[in-house]
Amino acid sequence: MKIQVIGLGNVGKSLLGLLLEEEKKLKAKGLDLRIVSISDSKGTAVNENGLELSEVLRYKELGWHNCNYYSKGYSAIDAIKNINSDLVVELTPSTIDGEPGLSHIKEAFVHKKHVVTANKGPLVVAFKQLKNMALENNVYFLYEATVAAHVPIFCLLSSCFITDEILKVEGIFNATTNFIICEMERGFSFQEALDKAIKAGWAETNYADDVDGIDAARKVVILANTIYDRDFKLNDVKIEGIRNVDPLIMEAKKQGKRVKLLCEIIKEHDNIILQVSPKMISQDNPFSTVNYGDMSVKFYFKNSQEIFVSAKFVSPRQTAQAVLNDIVTVALNKKCTG
Ligand SMILES: NC(=O)c1ccc[n+]([C@@H]2O[C@H](COP(=O)([O-])OP(=O)(O)OC[C@H]3O[C@@H](n4cnc5c(N)ncnc54)[C@H](OP(=O)(O)O)[C@@H]3O)[C@@H](O)[C@H]2O)c1
Repeated sequence: MKIQVIGLGNVGKSLLGLLLEEEKKLKAKGLDLRIVSISDSKGTAVNENGLELSEVLRYKELGWHNCNYYSKGYSAIDAIKNINSDLVVELTPSTIDGEPGLSHIKEAFVHKKHVVTANKGPLVVAFKQLKNMALENNVYFLYEATVAAHVPIFCLLSSCFITDEILKVEGIFNATTNFIICEMERGFSFQEALDKAIKAGWAETNYADDVDGIDAARKVVILANTIYDRDFKLNDVKIEGIRNVDPLIMEAKKQGKRVKLLCEIIKEHDNIILQVSPKMISQDNPFSTVNYGDMSVKFYFKNSQEIFVSAKFVSPRQTAQAVLNDIVTVALNKKCTG
């Protein structure tokens, strides 16, 4: 399968690393995954027979100096249009307007290419449109890594609970806020905890989206739209961030409880409530064990018992693993269907 990668940052580089590490295992499964182009913000590296990934990583580190197969100014859109491939992996930054990822994904669908992405932006802005485009062009559109990185959510729902109904979802989907709250529970102020999160690499200097609950709300939108086949947008989510969480943490301490920024999707007949807010939880709630960079989700079903899934230490490598799993899913299904 010929693959084009767009975005060679933390996740993109980790993905190339995993492809190198797992090459033998993938080949043993009969999979020939060939990366034919890799675009970053300034240009594209191309080899239609398959790029040498360790060399690409070295050149990226060195700023592409003297790389004769990297063309500066050759954009990801040009690459999608002109290079023969089966699948586009979209790994550019998540933005409010969904760009540039939104245009990349649409262009891929127009050219009947499957898409795998970790980028939330396009899915929050144009969920239904993208789903419909994928359907019309008869291609896969997989985005496991967009919600809680490598916590298996969409693959679990699409294979194990097809005939059941989801009545409620709870989740901890933002590592930065979880880190900050954990540190505040240890006695640090919001500002001190935030500084620690930035220093430890959990929060970016532009941390507003995280602490104001927006990043978590984006994941709620993607998950709710997927589960209920709707077209919710960010302003359908009731959002409360953690800037003023101090009194709740004090009260929780008195009661022997913990605080978590909880994402909730609640189905009440035809009404679906979406919310993100700090909640006090008791020590016997499984979410109380979800610390720092961990993420987790709990599903409540009509027929099945509740399912709680949790993953330790979300990182670009874990995210890349979820992306790779989506790629392999497409490749295996393509093989099955010829
Ligand atoms: N980090 C995680 O663990 C994690 C977890 C879940 C989801 N995600 C999502 O995964 C995506 C990638 O995350 P990341 O941490 O790898 O981001 P990142 O380190 O900021 O990397 C982004 C990459 O996109 C490239 N890029 C930007 N604009 C572009 C354009 N117009 N055309 C082509 N490439 C462009 C950048 O190019 P330059 O290298 O030239 O700057 C860079 O290589 C984001 O949407 C993020 O929200 C990340």
